[in-house]
Amino acid sequence: MNAVRTLGSPPGPKGHLLGDNVREYAKDPLGFLSGCARVYGDVVQLRFMGQTVYLLSDPGLIEYVLVENNRNFTKTRILKRNRRLLGDGLLISEGEFWRRQRRLAQPAFHRKRVDAYGEVMVAFAERSLEAWRDVQTINVHEEMMHLTLEIVAKCLFDADVGARATDVGKAMKVALEDFSSQRRLIRIPRGIPTPHNIRFEMAARRLDEIVGTIIENRRKSGEDRGDLLSMLVLAEDDSGERMTDKQLRDEVMTLFLAGHETTANALSWTFWLLSLTPNVEAKLAEELERVLGGRTPTMSDLSNLPYVERVVKESMRLYPPAWVVGRETIAECEVGGYRMPSGTTALMSQWVMHRDPRYHENPERFDPDRWTAEYVKALPRFAYFPFGGGPGQCIGAGFAMVETCLILATVAQRYRMDLASDQTVEPYASITLRPMEGIRMTLVERSREG
Ligand code: HEM
Repeated sequence: MNAVRTLGSPPGPKGHLLGDNVREYAKDPLGFLSGCARVYGDVVQLRFMGQTVYLLSDPGLIEYVLVENNRNFTKTRILKRNRRLLGDGLLISEGEFWRRQRRLAQPAFHRKRVDAYGEVMVAFAERSLEAWRDVQTINVHEEMMHLTLEIVAKCLFDADVGARATDVGKAMKVALEDFSSQRRLIRIPRGIPTPHNIRFEMAARRLDEIVGTIIENRRKSGEDRGDLLSMLVLAEDDSGERMTDKQLRDEVMTLFLAGHETTANALSWTFWLLSLTPNVEAKLAEELERVLGGRTPTMSDLSNLPYVERVVKESMRLYPPAWVVGRETIAECEVGGYRMPSGTTALMSQWVMHRDPRYHENPERFDPDRWTAEYVKALPRFAYFPFGGGPGQCIGAGFAMVETCLILATVAQRYRMDLASDQTVEPYASITLRPMEGIRMTLVERSREG
């Protein structure tokens, strides 16, 4: 019985056009993948533009791909189509080169380092608050994009990008639309000057310019500021060679982009969920008032703000800023009793796993109180994996958690946010999960509420 199953293919939905499922996927990626997992089980076979894809929705199978058997998997060709922007930076590179680059960047993310960034994070958050007023309506996603970009640029590259944050935001939007547009059945090569391709190329050049200036300024000064940028500029390999301009550009661009949009999404979803759940909002406000009493939060306060952390974890459960990860098999292997031929893509979705009722009771409910020690203990490792797992897991996980918690504490102790009327908030599942049109929120100053 087992032997027959091993040779078989997993079940999956029939597709249109030679069995391809890309049309339904492109229309509603989140709904489509969740539906497939529900109907067909833990291993589902799909076809995207001729490519065989297995959707894996069992924590043990995800662990097998990302951790146990990770050496038999590479990054996906879908991801590699983003080379124009990300080049051979950490997200895309592979093998020995990736390992070396990761080792080089790692010290900038050590716990002690991240602790030191805490002060910068809070200072920038407070600076943003200076421009906000009671009863003003803001687009919280735009505000968070701006803030997290300033923070990552300052912490990792000691650069001030405040004036260029709007440009970066616009370019990011174009880049994410470009990523989603690759789900179309017919893809127009980048070289053909369609309006879309022209817009993308212009956005990419603007980002090149901004990142290029950051690197150039540092190279010119020749100074070792002890930050990540200096580490990368001054790093030498075994033969004493430094990174080329292109390698440096790719790493800085990757960290610049990966290091702010995801965190901004986490914060935006958090403020939105709080506005929909007054009892959670009130409990958060109570903790902030009790622990901080209006004082500026610091790193050392975080251990006394357990509810802040639970709110963030629960928000990333329901709206994981990275909602799917993919890998591709090198050699044929067996997954969940099925044959997985070489070149097959494994998709593992945080969106699907984080809402699986087998692991999360009442999965649709925003309930930070579920994150008790017992809950965490009982949860299989890959039933909740906002930062991925295995050797390629997010290098910025600690940075992002500290940043999200500190910004939430700083902002939420000053303001409550009410959802402005006349808007539908919808997730847009591109490479990340962001609110489609942003989220408009009306600020309510806590001191007014008494
Ligand atoms: C809430 C915020 C964040 C989330 C949810 C998130 C999520 C992720 C996930 C799931 C991966 C793994 C992708 C894969 O396995 O294919 C990843 C990789 C990565 N993340 Fe994050 N991330 C966040 C914040 C950050 C920050 C703040 C930085 C940098 C300052 C960062 C830099 C990176 C880099 C460079 C990689 C590639 C790592 C490698 O392949 O070696 N991320 N992130």
